[in-house]
Amino acid sequence: MPRGTKSQPASQMVRKTNRPNPSQIQGLDLSVDLAPNNPHHLHLTNPVMIASGTFGYDGYGRGITGDMDLGELGAVIPKTFTHLPREGNPEPRWHPTSYREAWDAGDILFLNAIGLTNPGIEAGLVDVTPSWDRWNATCILSFASDSVKQFGDMAAMANQGTGFQGIELNLSCPNVEDGSLFGHSANLTAQAVAAVRKNTDRPILAKLAPNVPNIIEIARAAVDGGADAISIGNTIPAMHIDTKTRQPVLGNVTGGLSGPGLRPISLALVYQVSNAVDIPIIGIGGIFSGEHAAEYILAGASAVQIGSANLVGLSAPWRILSELKDWMSHSGLSNLKGLRI
Ligand SMILES: Cc1cc2nc3c(=O)[nH]c(=O)nc-3n(C[C@H](O)[C@H](O)[C@H](O)COP(=O)(O)O)c2cc1C
Repeated sequence: MPRGTKSQPASQMVRKTNRPNPSQIQGLDLSVDLAPNNPHHLHLTNPVMIASGTFGYDGYGRGITGDMDLGELGAVIPKTFTHLPREGNPEPRWHPTSYREAWDAGDILFLNAIGLTNPGIEAGLVDVTPSWDRWNATCILSFASDSVKQFGDMAAMANQGTGFQGIELNLSCPNVEDGSLFGHSANLTAQAVAAVRKNTDRPILAKLAPNVPNIIEIARAAVDGGADAISIGNTIPAMHIDTKTRQPVLGNVTGGLSGPGLRPISLALVYQVSNAVDIPIIGIGGIFSGEHAAEYILAGASAVQIGSANLVGLSAPWRILSELKDWMSHSGLSNLKGLRI
């Protein structure tokens, strides 16, 4: 894994009367605290994060090269761990199989059904997370559970772990007791977050499922459970059938829609929730440019996560961060605070 150098904290912007070349602008303040109510805080130097499951080719950073300085990004969220190891879904797990070619061809239908392939949290905390310290980046552990109790147990295990500064709860996972997704129930969301809160004082991001009738109810439940921030959101259930083969394109038949099609949906959810809760919101879904990131910030997000854009090109988050800075400069902004429409 590459060793990154942590970038210096941004200093105060000096406002200039003549608009300078954006790429030369120094001193923009993009810093954000994603856990202002938590004594540990979660200070990021900028709001551009890598979304869980899309970091490198395997979700844990494979393919990230030494020239990609992870310390320059706001934070990295490697792939979700579950309690036990998981092999994942049958192939094919991706549509399109080459995101790069599809993107170049203008095909923007991004589906996946990976099935949370991972080594399990026990092995993860021993063999995987300690090496994250070498990146000199802010790292966030993501986990998903089968039950409220298991959420609490995993938090207790994670509390002993190293290599990460916060925890993101992937609530798009089924509760074994009734088969419903945690993120589809306000009650289960509150209980899962509270079970984690009980066993750790590290910052908690609650990552919500977007396909719910009332996202505000779920977001408020996450706040009640003790979440420090809310991530919106995960993929939306979707499928695609190849009419030539007359077969579904995913081995699992159905999967999750990510990418550009998700952006306006997720953006509206961020906007709704930002009106209803007063903890930071992290916008996720179809962010492929700095302007897309700016759109989420205008909708009320404090930070953004880049997912599918990484699958088109691993350097996407650095480009998006640079474009966001350009947008700030062109807009005469020295920081990103108080921009909500
Ligand atoms: C290939 C792939 C794997 C993913 N794996 C995870 C995961 O392990 N945990 C998780 O919380 N979200 C996972 N996601 C969802 C993303 O983190 C993100 O929420 C979603 O893709 C929407 O963002 P995007 O449109 O920028 O891709 C995955 C998405 C993709 C495309």
